[in-house]
Amino acid sequence: MKLAYAVLLLPTTLYAQILGADSDIDQLVAQMDTSEKYSIVNGVGWISRKQQSGYYIGNEPAVDRLGIPSIKMQDAAQGFRTTDERIIGEVTAWPCSLGVASAWDVDLMEDWGHALGKEHRAKGANMILGPSVNVHRVAKGGRNAEYLSGESPKLGEEMARSYVRGVQEEGVMAVVKHFALNNQENDRNTIDSHADERTMQEVYYPPFKAAVDEGVASFMCSYNLVNGTHSCGNEDLLVRDLKERMGFEGFVMSDWWAVNEVGYQNAGLDMDMPGDDGYFSSDNLDASDDGRIDDMVTRVLTQMKKVGLLGTDDQPAAFPNLCDIPGDCDDLFYNATATSAAHEALALSIATQSVALLKNEDDVLPISGAKTIAVVGSACDASNNISAMLKVWDLGNYYVMGGSGRVIAEDPVSIVRGLQEGAGDTITIVESTTDDLDQALAAMENADVVLTCGATTSTEGHDRASLLVDQDDFITQLVEAATIPSVVLLNTPGATVISNFSGKASAVLNMFLGGQATGTAWSNIIYGVESPSGKLPVTFPLSEEDAVEPCSSSPCTYDEKLEVGWRGLVEKDVDFPFGHGLSYTNFDYEVKSKDGLKFELNVENTGKSAGREVVQLYVTYPVAEDAPPVELKGFKKTGVLEPGQSELLEFDISPDDLRSWSTNAGDFVAVSGDFQFDFASSSRDVRVSDTVTV
Ligand SMILES: *[C@@H]1O[C@H](CO)[C@@H](O)[C@H](O)[C@H]1NC(C)=O
Ligand SMILES: *[C@@H]1O[C@H](CO)[C@@H](O)[C@H](O)[C@H]1NC(C)=O
Ligand SMILES: *[C@@H]1O[C@H](CO)[C@@H](O)[C@H](O)[C@H]1NC(C)=O
Ligand SMILES: *[C@@H]1O[C@H](CO)[C@@H](O)[C@H](O)[C@H]1NC(C)=O
Repeated sequence: MKLAYAVLLLPTTLYAQILGADSDIDQLVAQMDTSEKYSIVNGVGWISRKQQSGYYIGNEPAVDRLGIPSIKMQDAAQGFRTTDERIIGEVTAWPCSLGVASAWDVDLMEDWGHALGKEHRAKGANMILGPSVNVHRVAKGGRNAEYLSGESPKLGEEMARSYVRGVQEEGVMAVVKHFALNNQENDRNTIDSHADERTMQEVYYPPFKAAVDEGVASFMCSYNLVNGTHSCGNEDLLVRDLKERMGFEGFVMSDWWAVNEVGYQNAGLDMDMPGDDGYFSSDNLDASDDGRIDDMVTRVLTQMKKVGLLGTDDQPAAFPNLCDIPGDCDDLFYNATATSAAHEALALSIATQSVALLKNEDDVLPISGAKTIAVVGSACDASNNISAMLKVWDLGNYYVMGGSGRVIAEDPVSIVRGLQEGAGDTITIVESTTDDLDQALAAMENADVVLTCGATTSTEGHDRASLLVDQDDFITQLVEAATIPSVVLLNTPGATVISNFSGKASAVLNMFLGGQATGTAWSNIIYGVESPSGKLPVTFPLSEEDAVEPCSSSPCTYDEKLEVGWRGLVEKDVDFPFGHGLSYTNFDYEVKSKDGLKFELNVENTGKSAGREVVQLYVTYPVAEDAPPVELKGFKKTGVLEPGQSELLEFDISPDDLRSWSTNAGDFVAVSGDFQFDFASSSRDVRVSDTVTV
């Protein structure tokens, strides 16, 4: 494009100046007519809440005349959403996002991001409706399985960054969601969340801010209200907090049908999804503030260009467009195989590394040598009823969650099948896969050890009714009656109360909903092919009363303020604390050097088998009336360490991480004094402490 031509056509809008948008995009926008501009900010492909054939879950049409490809969006939480029966088996059914996060491995999360990006692209999509990053406030939250922050803003920051980087390097735009204070599913369209500014800034915003810093293309505003106003029409939230304070240059899209009134574009919303509600009709968009439409379109096109979806006359797009809706994408969408042997292996590796060993009395695990194992309980042979799931969009099971995050697995490996396949010649398995106690006891008669399984699932739209696993009674009776060591394997969608049986069981392990490789991953852990190295990103409390319940009326006031999740339980006994996860080996920690806020910590494997450790840094602020409670400020995972081997981990804490939000200043401000640094194996297992004066 010629410069003179551009100057003639370019309206110098206020918004373009704020953005400092690049001139290619300015020129492109200048060439668009009003209807083309409007078409890019309002979704297509849905009529009266029904998805039309030939379209993805979210769609923006192409502007062929100007070489702008269509935007094709698909969920997210466990991979490429199986909205059509034909897609099942063509895509990987990954562990849930919380499971990926529970490996506490930023590189693994980035690998997953790349794999997700590749599968979306193979299916013709160029936008993924993830990551979901809300910090868990309510233990029963129906979508906690997809919220990769667990109970920690810091875990969320690190995981959000890795996810966004991995996905976007594959030419797929990421959407961080759901902004903001979308902490429960019950009454999600009407609940009005009230949190003070400091709580929002210190607890709930950091994972979102990290995504902004990583260059995430889009934000999805949530169904709920914040301070009395729906998120998608909340100017304080979208303009002041997000675009001005966090400096977000991408675009805000609504959650599906989360627009409730006309005029939200003037409160910071850039795109109405899925677009069949009429709120972004031409008439309504005609009533936009000056320059606002160009700002909205510029934001969308800038992000498309950034991830490589837009070419110029001189340079083709790094990720050329593969197809356009409607219809032209059908072969990719319905027929293309996006999964691969490499992705199947990665799904298994992630599921294996996501397992947290909560308890292992007398080293009952791993199981090796000549043994007879009884495998008892219905959850060890969990069903995967595809036709039932295809009929009910929010039906989950013990492999995948329900709702928009669901990826139906074609043939997930059950626990008992995984254990049989991994047993080898010397191990005999006797199974009884019902919850009948007598049959279980019969199966245990000649066994050396009994393995039983507990699970539950969750979905969006409503919260869990209980924190117990569905087999709580059976497992409790079984471990009570067992005269041989008992091992309990859990597949869960978030925090779980297992105190009825955790005391009596010899060993307990947790894997969040594990996707297609569930049973094989369990086999890797149970037989010691790999030592467990996951850590709980949430607390397993002693009882439901210790956890925050979903609000049943509005306003929903966040009275606990900063004391969210584990930080609200530091004075209480818990069953298994945040950050907890044992290994088959042992690790010693030693501070090797200290320079300001920079530490080098040596971790040595002092046990008898190979393993990996996640070292966590907890920081206690100087004593002051308004000091925040103890907080996770960093973590590092070692590589696989052989017995006797050690690794030097570097913790380089930025002074910015030790600040605290001042509502008066409207910003984070420095805190000075003595900070206690605890290097720990869990939030309640501190190994080395030091004091740092700032
Ligand atoms: C919500 O209300 C609190 C307390 O009044 C206020 O400090 C904060 O700025 C508000 N935030 C938003 C996004 O409205
Ligand atoms: C998908 O593949 C089938 C079988 O090869 C073929 O009949 C069908 O036309 C393909 N669908 C599309 C939309 O191309
Ligand atoms: C699967 O679910 C359907 C209900 O949609 C039911 O009729 C069928 O019996 C179930 N199949 C199995 C194997 O449980
Ligand atoms: C298990 O725990 C729940 C909730 O704490 C309790 O209501 C129930 O009675 C317990 N069941 C058994 C068998 O102890």
